[in-house]
Amino acid sequence: MRCSFFKFQICSVIITALVILVLVNNLNQVEHLDQRTDLILSQTGQGDKFEQSHLSTKKYYCDYQQQLISRAEHKEQQYLLQSLQWIGPPHKKIHFLKSTAAAQSCFVILNSRNNLNVGDVMEVLVRMQDFEGNPKRYGGDYLQAKIHSPSLKAGAVGKVVDHQNGFYSVFFTLLWPGSVTVSVVLVHPSEGVQVLQHLREDKPDRVYFKSLFRSGTISETTICNVCLPKKLPLCNYTDLLTGEPWFCYKPERLSCVNRINHAKGGYLKNLLTFEESLFFQSGVNIKVPILASGPDTVIVHPWIMKDKDVVNGSKLLSCGHYYQDTWISGKSYKRQFNNPTDITNCLQGKVVHLFGDSTIRQWFEYLTSFVSEPYNQSKLIPRTRLHCLFST
Ligand SMILES: *[C@@H]1O[C@H](CO)[C@@H](O)[C@H](O)[C@H]1NC(C)=O
Ligand SMILES: *[C@@H]1O[C@H](CO)[C@@H](O)[C@H](O)[C@H]1NC(C)=O
Repeated sequence: MRCSFFKFQICSVIITALVILVLVNNLNQVEHLDQRTDLILSQTGQGDKFEQSHLSTKKYYCDYQQQLISRAEHKEQQYLLQSLQWIGPPHKKIHFLKSTAAAQSCFVILNSRNNLNVGDVMEVLVRMQDFEGNPKRYGGDYLQAKIHSPSLKAGAVGKVVDHQNGFYSVFFTLLWPGSVTVSVVLVHPSEGVQVLQHLREDKPDRVYFKSLFRSGTISETTICNVCLPKKLPLCNYTDLLTGEPWFCYKPERLSCVNRINHAKGGYLKNLLTFEESLFFQSGVNIKVPILASGPDTVIVHPWIMKDKDVVNGSKLLSCGHYYQDTWISGKSYKRQFNNPTDITNCLQGKVVHLFGDSTIRQWFEYLTSFVSEPYNQSKLIPRTRLHCLFST
C-alpha cells in the first residue's frame, strides 16, 4: 500500500494528547528516581559511596561492576540509563519483510498551510510501513530529521518523539526566514537496533585492542579490552584512582610490566546470522531517506512578537543551528573568533584541556594547524598550553 496521510490528520490530535500523557508520566518517573536514590542511601548506610549492580557477565572479566561511585555519579548514571531506555520490537525474531522499510514510509508537515514565522514550532508526522506496505504497529526505529536551506547554508535538527505505534512526530523550531526543507532519514530500523542491542550485551569485546610487550629481544602482542572473555590469565591495568577497568591477556613469556604500547586491534567478524544481516543493507535500511507524501518545503516568514509562552517553548527545543555555514548556539552566549590572531589573543596565558574521543583529536589538530599557519610553531601561542587526551 502506498504511504499517505489522508486519513491520519485527525489522529494527530489524539497523538498530541498521548505525547503530553507520556511526558507527564516521564516527569513522574524522574521524581520516583530521586526518591529511590535516597532510599538506597538510607538502606545501605554507606554515606556517599555505593556499588553498581549491572547485569552479571559470568563469561567476562568486566570489572566496572564493582566500581564504587558517589551519590552524584549514581544519580547521573540513573538519569543516563533512563534516557537510554528503548522499546523495540515485541519479540526477537521479526521477519525481514515485516521490518521497517524507508521506501514504503513517508512523512507529512502538519502545519504547512499555516502562516509560519521564525520562532514557531513546526510538527512533522512520520508514518512507518514494512516491506509489504503494511503499517508498523510498534516503534524503536532510529530516525534523524533536519530542516535546511541549502542556498543559505542553514540547517537545524529536529526532536523526534516515538509514539510506539509506527508513528513518529518530529518538532522543529524555525530559526531563520526563507524557504525551509524537511529531510527525514531512517538510520536503522528498530529490528536492526534490537540486533545491535543484543550484540552490545552479549559480545562486549567485539571491538578489540592490542598491546605490545617487550623486554630485551623478546616481543609479544596480546589482546586487550575493557571486558575480556574468561579463558586465559590476565594483566589487570585497572586505574586504582578512578576505577576505570582495563585488561590485557598476560603474555606467555613476559610480565605485565613489560607492556609498552596500545593500539587498535580490530572487529570480531561474522557475529550476525543471515537473517540478522538483512537489517543492515546499505541503500535498503541503513541511512535511507524517507520521502514526503506532500510538500517537503515551507516558507518561513520573519519573526514577529507573540505571547511569551510560544517563545519560551521554542527556545526549549533548540540547541542551535547553522546559518551561512556558521554555528549559532541556542544555549549560551558565544563569541566568534574568525582568524588565527583573535584565537591566539584569546588563548594567551591559558591552559586548555580537551577530553574526548578521536573527534576531539580532530578538533585539536584543526585548532593547532589553524592558528599556526601564519606563525612559526614555537612562538605560536605564547604562554598557552594545549592538552588533548582522547580515547579511540
Ligand atoms: C583488577 O584490579 C582491581 C583493582 O585492584 C580489582 O578491584 C579487580 O578485582 C581486579 N580484577 C580482576 C579480574 O582481577
Ligand atoms: C518566559 O521567559 C521569561 C524570561 O526568561 C520569563 O520571565 C517568563 O515568566 C516565561 N514565561 C513563561 C510562561 O514561562
